[in-house]
Amino acid sequence: MADPKPINFTRGVPATESFPAAQLAIAAENALRNHSATILQYGPASGFLPMREWLAARYGVAVESVLCSNGSLQIVEFLGAALLAPGDAVFVEEPTYDRTLTTLRKAGARVVGIPLEADGPDIDALEQALRIHHPRFFYVIPDFQNPSGATCSRAKRERLVELARSHNFFLLEDCPYRSLRYSGQAEPALIELAPDVVLLMSSYSKLIGPGPRFGFAIGDAGLLQRIAKVAEDTYISPGLLAHGIVYEYCAAGYLEPQVERLLALYAPRLAATLAALDKHLPETAPTRPQGGFFLSLTLPEGVNTSDVRTAAALVGLNLADGRGFFSNGGGERFLRLPYCALSPVDLEEGIKRLAGVVHALQA
Ligand SMILES: Cc1ncc(COP(=O)(O)O)c(C=O)c1O
Repeated sequence: MADPKPINFTRGVPATESFPAAQLAIAAENALRNHSATILQYGPASGFLPMREWLAARYGVAVESVLCSNGSLQIVEFLGAALLAPGDAVFVEEPTYDRTLTTLRKAGARVVGIPLEADGPDIDALEQALRIHHPRFFYVIPDFQNPSGATCSRAKRERLVELARSHNFFLLEDCPYRSLRYSGQAEPALIELAPDVVLLMSSYSKLIGPGPRFGFAIGDAGLLQRIAKVAEDTYISPGLLAHGIVYEYCAAGYLEPQVERLLALYAPRLAATLAALDKHLPETAPTRPQGGFFLSLTLPEGVNTSDVRTAAALVGLNLADGRGFFSNGGGERFLRLPYCALSPVDLEEGIKRLAGVVHALQA
């Protein structure tokens, strides 16, 4: 019998059919026609000025409060180099985005996990941790969190801001999924609530595509200058050609209709995943996100992700190790399911295979 078609629930990648290639081709031509002297040359480490101005207008901030980078993840690395001494405490949600954990560890941070609940970080646990540690910052993903899918409530956002102010740390708000809301009402971004204690990082990797590596940060101008200095010492200037293309794309008004297309493409994929889980694995009580790329679940007692991954690979189902999202151990029964890059048919088939593996391990 032929091997089953592989189904990947490994990384949170956008659907290839979502890439707006034709519009990017127009934007690329315009970028080279209008800005070649700037975008083919070395330039400022803070990025292509027209794109910074475009974002400044969108977020209602001064242009000095905007930095454009190569993807957003490296902003965490630059922040670490600019701010952290070995052993400095940084708080993260538990679980959190695994690549940020790796980056913070590389920077020598002492990473402290604050348990995440369905409506955001456990505030009691945060207050408890603040009695012991003094973090430089708390890395949070308030909207459609990676890996859990959770969104932080308004009340918790306000409490985070109060605690940041009273305990003298800042919130690193990572929000690449924020505009991908399929249902429900948006809560204010942390940076809207408290620009004095928030550094926002985001990117258009999930909206346009990761290939252009377009990311940005918004926040205190002095802090951004320090980040820009590390960026300059790292790569002289960011990929200005990509910045120019993304700028022409955004200035042409292509972004909003693209987001609408993504909502129409991805919302049925989330619905298909949840319907398949309700049918085949209801006992895992999956999270029910209102947007983004991920949902998560807890495997039944006695079944762990390591064994499930090994058995799943044999039936062509590839899964990420749940333990990778936890800063200090745990996650043995945690499973993240990124659903955006799979068709509803493959999602149903993938969940069916997962249920088969879980039930076989239980038997
Ligand atoms: C929460 C979060 N932050 C950052 C990134 C990295 O994105 P970028 O492509 O902008 O570096 C990802 C990618 O999956 C992510 O999920």
